[in-house]
Amino acid sequence: MTINSISYAIIGAKDPAAWRSFGLEVLGMMEGQSGSENRVLLRCDERPFRFMVVEHEADALLATGFEVASQRHFAELGDALAAAGVSYEQGDALEAAQRHVRGLIKFRDPAGNAIELCHGATLDYAKFVSPQGIDAFETGFNGDMGFGHAVLPAPNLQEAYRFYTEVLGFADSDYMHFKLSDDPEDEGMGLHFLHADNPRHHSLALFQGESAANCIHLMLEVRSVDEVGYCLDRALAREIPITSTLGRHSNDRMLSFYMMTPGGFPLEFGCEGLQIDWADFTPTVTDLPSLWGHKWGA
Ligand SMILES: [Fe+2]
Repeated sequence: MTINSISYAIIGAKDPAAWRSFGLEVLGMMEGQSGSENRVLLRCDERPFRFMVVEHEADALLATGFEVASQRHFAELGDALAAAGVSYEQGDALEAAQRHVRGLIKFRDPAGNAIELCHGATLDYAKFVSPQGIDAFETGFNGDMGFGHAVLPAPNLQEAYRFYTEVLGFADSDYMHFKLSDDPEDEGMGLHFLHADNPRHHSLALFQGESAANCIHLMLEVRSVDEVGYCLDRALAREIPITSTLGRHSNDRMLSFYMMTPGGFPLEFGCEGLQIDWADFTPTVTDLPSLWGHKWGA
């Protein structure tokens, strides 16, 4: 496996200032140093940014960035994409500099999601000081577990799953299948949960459905249930729509709630997600999304 983690999200916003206040005041992220009026950087650890919010004609996820372990693995993935017939672009010097990486390629997955691979991410070691007093987000050593996870839309679920596992080298954590109704004709929806080369249960999940904002949700993880509760209070105080109540997921045991971001997609804010030794793991199949809670559209 050569993809280490989910490194960043690039988010388009009609009003980047709305994302700035959401990020700082609700999520408790810290503003990055090299942003500008129409480009807001939000950080949650040693990395110069985790969310890059850029002024855009629509509110939507513009790209998801994954970090690759080395320049050699990065070149091998480029070759694997070419062999699979996926055309990709090299990021230019400005794009690489804005992402604080040494190498960057960009392409679309079989579901049309914009994906970036990077290597050589630069740490600036600026002390993380949350404006909301969060001591740390759970991102591993030097951020090597990534910021959290993304769930991306993939109506062509099997094709997308084969691409991520066979071309990019992600591996199975869990396959979830659930029905949205009691109708026996309802074929239900599938979700593939995939892990990268870090202990987080999943860095990416593919959902068999569409999203007008190009994203089913992003997830950030903190280190205590109290920080989840404080964030829920901050969201409620600002009348941010809570799209799912508190609950604990079955497959990764994440205790979390979901709220709507200014990006038009939800963000899961949680703690206590499983960290797994993959050498000793058998992928699961699950038909119950949560042990308790997570009432949607509450
Ligand atoms: Fe999630």
